[in-house]
Amino acid sequence: MEVVNVDLGERTYPIYVGSGCLGELGTRLAETRCGARVAVVTNSTIADLYLGRVMTSLGDARFDAAVVHIPDGEEHKNLAWLAFVYDKLIDAGVERDGAVVALGGGVVGDLAGFAAATYLRGIPCVQVPTTVLAQVDSSIGGKTGINHAAGKNLLGAFAQPRFVLADVDVLRTLPKRELTAGLAEVIKYGVILDPELFALLEDQLPAVQRLDRDLMVRIVKTSCTLKALVVGEDETESGYRAILNFGHTIGHAIESLTEYKQFLHGEAVAIGMVAAARVSARLGFCADADVQRIRRLIQRYGLPTEIPDDIRGAPLALAMRTDKKARGGRINFVCITGIGTTRLARLSCDEIVKYS
Ligand SMILES: NC(=O)c1ccc[n+]([C@@H]2O[C@H](COP(=O)([O-])OP(=O)(O)OC[C@H]3O[C@@H](n4cnc5c(N)ncnc54)[C@H](O)[C@@H]3O)[C@@H](O)[C@H]2O)c1
Ligand SMILES: [Zn+2]
Repeated sequence: MEVVNVDLGERTYPIYVGSGCLGELGTRLAETRCGARVAVVTNSTIADLYLGRVMTSLGDARFDAAVVHIPDGEEHKNLAWLAFVYDKLIDAGVERDGAVVALGGGVVGDLAGFAAATYLRGIPCVQVPTTVLAQVDSSIGGKTGINHAAGKNLLGAFAQPRFVLADVDVLRTLPKRELTAGLAEVIKYGVILDPELFALLEDQLPAVQRLDRDLMVRIVKTSCTLKALVVGEDETESGYRAILNFGHTIGHAIESLTEYKQFLHGEAVAIGMVAAARVSARLGFCADADVQRIRRLIQRYGLPTEIPDDIRGAPLALAMRTDKKARGGRINFVCITGIGTTRLARLSCDEIVKYS
């Protein structure tokens, strides 16, 4: 098993990445010296596949684990289901020395993480991510939260987990579309920080798509290392962490204009990355050849590359203006200066749309 540390002083924690390591959860949790009464938060889809193994592992390590089942789907990442999780934690008698284990994708991770951050003013949380997106992105960095009718992720807290345990074998049961969408975030790390990762994704496409074990461990580990480095520099997103938003300004606008129905997050980000690369080239920051390389890779992975015609232009600019990161119609837009390097440009929403 590989270990990546997220360096945050006294909140430093390890990310364990391996093939077939789910059964080590109990041992790893025991190492944190938390109390015996813990709760596993998960959904029915993931429970059917992996809860048995998780409960066995926790039982073998002498944990007395309650299970909190929430329904599958982003629409349940809300206040009502957060209240449900609190009720179950209280019913189960989880105390301050206990822990919440988040077993699932980003939805479970965000909801369970926020519950743990606030229950009894905060108890330890352990992330066991089961989607590509969760393994390389959402489980790392301590952002937790829920949606509000007025917007996504409007309520939340920064709370770092005690550790993250990512078993790449569980990705085998992911629907293909979810898998591919998650890989968009991996491509993003290559584009903004790591030309070697980018080239690996170019060279090893068939092996990635068949989820070759060693390769997936390497890819998830590299992605976690990159995110850990960025989070270690800027835990609360006051500056440098903004580079992780590459492709997301336009991606979020596309998601919101299509009412979160047409594209998965990673698919919208894929389109956003191609557009952001084009903006970078138009501003003279990177070469047209870089844009073509990025577009080609994204396309080869089966991800969309073009902004749908019906939302291009004015609607897109308007959606970006309402982005929570926009100030006075201008955005600190993440550009690239080549594969693996970035710079920010303060651009108006109209400029972004015109150049993309
Ligand atoms: N906290 C952060 O920093 C951060 C970062 C990015 C995204 N997010 C959040 O993450 C969420 C999206 O996460 P996601 O893409 O993982 O979606 P998800 O959690 O909805 O999972 C996608 C689907 O795959 C299923 N699934 C999960 N693991 C599986 C497995 N191993 N086998 C079969 N099916 C499986 C789920 O039940 C679900 O139906 C959003 O709510 C987003 O806001 C948070
Ligand atoms: Zn993202």
